[in-house]
Amino acid sequence: MDDLRNKYLAAIADAADESALETLRVQAVGKKGEVSLKMRELGKMTPEERQVAGPALNALKDEINSALAAKKVALADKALDERLRAEWLDVTLPVRPQRRGSIHPVSQVWEECTAIFAEMGFSVAEGPQIDTDWYNFDALNIPGHHPARAEMDTFYMHRAEGDNRPPHVLRTHTSPVQIRHMEKHGAPCRIIAPGRVYRADYDQTHTPMFHQVEGLAIDKDISMANLKWVLEEFFSAFFEIEGIKTRFRASHFPFTEPSAEVDIQCSWEDGQLKIGQGDGWLEVLGSGMVHPKVLSAAGVDPAEWQGFAFGMGIDRIAMLKYGIPDLRAFFDSDLRWLRHYGFGALEVPTLHGGLSG
Ligand code: PHE
Repeated sequence: MDDLRNKYLAAIADAADESALETLRVQAVGKKGEVSLKMRELGKMTPEERQVAGPALNALKDEINSALAAKKVALADKALDERLRAEWLDVTLPVRPQRRGSIHPVSQVWEECTAIFAEMGFSVAEGPQIDTDWYNFDALNIPGHHPARAEMDTFYMHRAEGDNRPPHVLRTHTSPVQIRHMEKHGAPCRIIAPGRVYRADYDQTHTPMFHQVEGLAIDKDISMANLKWVLEEFFSAFFEIEGIKTRFRASHFPFTEPSAEVDIQCSWEDGQLKIGQGDGWLEVLGSGMVHPKVLSAAGVDPAEWQGFAFGMGIDRIAMLKYGIPDLRAFFDSDLRWLRHYGFGALEVPTLHGGLSG
C-alpha cells in the first residue's frame, strides 16, 4: 500500500496537464484502477484483516482523490497565470504611430492662442458669424456713410422684399463680439474672441473666409502699457522665443482711440524669415484703446471704464509660425497638404506640456 501511495502521489505531483491527471485517476481509483482492484480483494480477507485493510484502503483512495483535486487547482492557476502574462497589455503605451487624421494648423493656432491668453486670465467669448450691421459697424463707431464699410468688402445677406428686420452681414471682423460681450457682462472684463470672419477678397494672402482673434480688456485704469506687455508676452509664448520686441505704429480704427498697428521683430536672411531677431518688422495686428463711443454703445460708462482691444489674424500668425507660404491652401482640403502641415490629434497644446509638440 505504501508503494501504491508513493507511486501515485509522485506521479500526480509530476503531472503536466489535466489529461495526464485524468489518466492517473483512472489508473489509481477508476473502476478498474489499482486501488479499486485492491478493494475488491477485501472480500477474500478474514474479518480481522479486513478491519485493518478496509479503512487503510479508503484512506488511500481519499488521499489520492484529494491530491488529484489539489493538483487540478494548481494546474488551473498556472494556466491562468500564463494567460495573464501572455495577454498583458500596456495601456499607457503611445497610440499607433500611423495616425489617421490631423489637426488643421488653424485649429492648432486657435488652441495655442486660447492656452496662452487663458494663462493671462482671459476667457473665451463667442458671437455669431452672421450679425446685424449694427453690431458689425454702427456700435463700433462706423456709421453708414463711413468709408470703412466699403473698405471691408462686406458680404451682405440677401433680404426678401418687405423684410424689415435689420440688415445682416457676414461679420467682417471679430470686433462685434466686444459689443455683445460688454452688453451682456458689463465691465470689468478680460476676453479673447477667436472666430471666422468674411471679406470679399482672394489672393495669396487673402481668402473670403479667414480667422481672427479679438482681445478686449476693460477695467478702471488699463492703458496702452498693459496692451504692450500682454502682446509681447503673447508673442514670446506663441513663437516660443524669449523677449520678442514689438513696434507700435500710430494708425486709425474708428473703434479705438488712440489706435496702433503692431509689428513684431524679424529678419530676412537668404529669403528666410526669422521671427524675434534682426531689425526688420512685420505687421501682425491692429489695436488701440477702446473708443468711448464703443463703450457707450455696449452700455459701459466711459467716464468710469477704459481698456484696450486688439484684432489679430489667426491664419496669418499660423503662416508665420509654421512657414506656410500660401493662405489659399489652408482651405483647399488637399490631403497631402493636411498631412504635411497637420498636427497630432491627441497633442493638445498647453503651456506646460508644450505648445506645438
Ligand atoms: N477689427 C480690426 C480689423 O479687423 C482689428 C482691430 C481690432 C483693431 C480691435 C483695433 C482693435 O482690422
